[in-house]
Amino acid sequence: MDIYKVICFLIFIQYSFASRVLELTDRFPEIRKDGGLWLVKFYAPWCGHCKKLDPIWMHVAQALTKTNIRVGKVDVTRFPSVANEFKAYATPTIKFIKPDSEHTYYGDRTKEAIVGYALRMSGPPVQEVTKSESINNFKNMNQLFFMYVGKREGPLWDVYYSIAVNMQPYVHFYSASAEIAKHHIKIKELPTVFVHKEGSHYYYPVEEGSRIENAEHLNKTLHQWISEERFETFPKITSDNINEYMQTRKYLVLVIVEENKIKQISPEMLEFRNKVEHLIRKKRDTYHKYFQFGWMGNPYVANSIAMTRLPLPYLLVLNSSTYHHHIPEDDPPQMTIQAIEVFLEKIMNSTSPVYGGNSIPVNILRKFLNAKRDLEDMWHGNPMMLIVIFTLPSIFFLLIIYACCCADILDADEDEEEELLFHEKHE
Ligand SMILES: *[C@@H]1O[C@H](CO)[C@@H](O)[C@H](O)[C@H]1NC(C)=O
Ligand SMILES: *[C@@H]1O[C@H](CO)[C@@H](O)[C@H](O)[C@H]1NC(C)=O
Ligand SMILES: *[C@@H]1O[C@H](CO)[C@@H](O)[C@H](O)[C@H]1NC(C)=O
Repeated sequence: MDIYKVICFLIFIQYSFASRVLELTDRFPEIRKDGGLWLVKFYAPWCGHCKKLDPIWMHVAQALTKTNIRVGKVDVTRFPSVANEFKAYATPTIKFIKPDSEHTYYGDRTKEAIVGYALRMSGPPVQEVTKSESINNFKNMNQLFFMYVGKREGPLWDVYYSIAVNMQPYVHFYSASAEIAKHHIKIKELPTVFVHKEGSHYYYPVEEGSRIENAEHLNKTLHQWISEERFETFPKITSDNINEYMQTRKYLVLVIVEENKIKQISPEMLEFRNKVEHLIRKKRDTYHKYFQFGWMGNPYVANSIAMTRLPLPYLLVLNSSTYHHHIPEDDPPQMTIQAIEVFLEKIMNSTSPVYGGNSIPVNILRKFLNAKRDLEDMWHGNPMMLIVIFTLPSIFFLLIIYACCCADILDADEDEEEELLFHEKHE
């Protein structure tokens, strides 16, 4: 008897160490009111993307054990009321839940991105830096961050803080005193705001005169500047995080290449990607206001936008407010730097032809074409499967028709068989 208790105990310990993810039930809305911070995944047992997230979620939970953030999951098929309460209509949905507010996560579904998000959300909107070395740490982590320098008071501080409250899910906001910041940057005036990214920093531009006095104007311009600066110059964009980039309200310029299973890109595609990257880094000041650049490692989203199977590598420009897109006239790999520049300039002066959009007919067509492309992919990947899927129902259908029309023959057959069995048993 005792040995069983020991075994049970060991299994219990094993279990609680292996799985730090709490399985939540319909009592969660009550529990959540007790306070504390929660990172919760809403999932359905049959959803493929949820399954992919499972191992990542375990690692996220492990990485957050020493924090005050609890990691849980809700099976929405068993507890639809909880999913409803938290407006988790798609699976998987990741939410950061505070006692009095909830936030949906839209970023990459990688351990690093999710853990970074949870840590950011668990702190205050603007974290005060009190040690000079901390700034070095942020820089070494290659982290993009905004920093306010000066006394935490006055119109610039108020506006900075209110923007940080809204944008905390996406990016880090810090503040530091001039004494600490001066070890890292040249300070021309106080207070000031700068962004640090890719090894450089850029100041929030000073307008002559009325910058600090007019709070509304300040709010608008700082907001605009932060939403333009909060992304790296040439990030990898995925189907998970593309919505974040669409919120910039700029044109999204996408270099589409294809990564293989071990994230390698063919030399030809790499050459094209490098060409575009080189151009946009050189002409950052010209393009930065209008375009957010990025590259994608597979053509799926781009195909869906362009409603065709694009040759790779490709260059696609997406209007983030209307969902229209622009495509170059020439074959992208053949484009010279100058041709790419002309293509972008034509978009800037609205003379480039416009395609697609997000109207209902276009979306229906898009769904149809996506389905068609999926079938084609299936045909190339696994033709037998496709044949089975399409022929099995027809075979059943034929059998049913056969059964209805030729019922007599079937009956006769069955009778004979039964008789046969009967005879056999007697023998
Ligand atoms: C800044 O503008 C936003 C709306 O764009 C508003 O929600 C926010 O309260 C404003 N903040 C300040 C400090 O005026
Ligand atoms: C998108 O299209 C609209 C309508 O044509 C245009 O006004 C806007 O400037 C375009 N660009 C962006 C980045 O939204
Ligand atoms: C737009 O830009 C293209 C490329 O630089 C140029 O050839 C064209 O004349 C411009 N059109 C207008 C109306 O400015």
